[in-house]
Amino acid sequence: MLEIGNFNKIIVANWKLQGSLSFIKTYIKNIKFDSVEEQTKCVVICPPFPFINQINSKDLLIGSQDCSVYVEGAFTGETSTKMLKDIGCNFCIVGHSERRSLFGESNEMIAIKIVNCLEEQIIPILCIGENLEQKKQNKTKEILINQVQKSIPKQANENNMIIAYEPIWAIGTGFTPTLDEISEIHTFIKNNILQSKEFKILYGGSVKSSNCNEILTQENVDGVLVGSASIDIEEFNKIIES
Ligand code: 13P
Repeated sequence: MLEIGNFNKIIVANWKLQGSLSFIKTYIKNIKFDSVEEQTKCVVICPPFPFINQINSKDLLIGSQDCSVYVEGAFTGETSTKMLKDIGCNFCIVGHSERRSLFGESNEMIAIKIVNCLEEQIIPILCIGENLEQKKQNKTKEILINQVQKSIPKQANENNMIIAYEPIWAIGTGFTPTLDEISEIHTFIKNNILQSKEFKILYGGSVKSSNCNEILTQENVDGVLVGSASIDIEEFNKIIES
């Protein structure tokens, strides 16, 4: 398993349901990142399943956007962590809010997926976050506590798992929490819920080149999880450079 502790900045591209072979060709040709020069920065690309092993760049790390709760057998349409490992995945996004809300994923299913990742030495990137209603009702911390307590198995720790705080109301909307709110929530997750300052926590939700610098300099923000801006290579290059 990769030593996540060695990275002081982690930038993850979540392409969601976007991309094609020709898009990947151009993307890889134009991405500006040299991992040899940037030893402490980690750039992870998470394309849709069919394209995962098309990203053959020595500088980039590969992740998937999901995995199965199952390991092997008669489960049509599923992709196991064993298969993901086989094709070079080092990371796997687990429990993204779109999976929770559109595909009915529960905290219990997410916990199983994390165990499956850990068994294959894949680093799970666990997504947590509140929706707008919950934010308005001042329930953010309560929601995060519940998600963390129910979805993190006991095998997981700061050396083998990453958390991504993605407020649902900030995803794809152009809105973000204030910098103070981001810092407060990340500090709360590390100190109060996980009780380990060493846990890496990424921020996700409307990250773009114009706001990522200030987000990345907030206390307890260890990186960003980028959706739509990661599809635009010029935007994503600026985010990598920040
Ligand atoms: P946007 O960056 O498009 O808001 O998406 C965030 C996200 O869901 C990343 O996982």
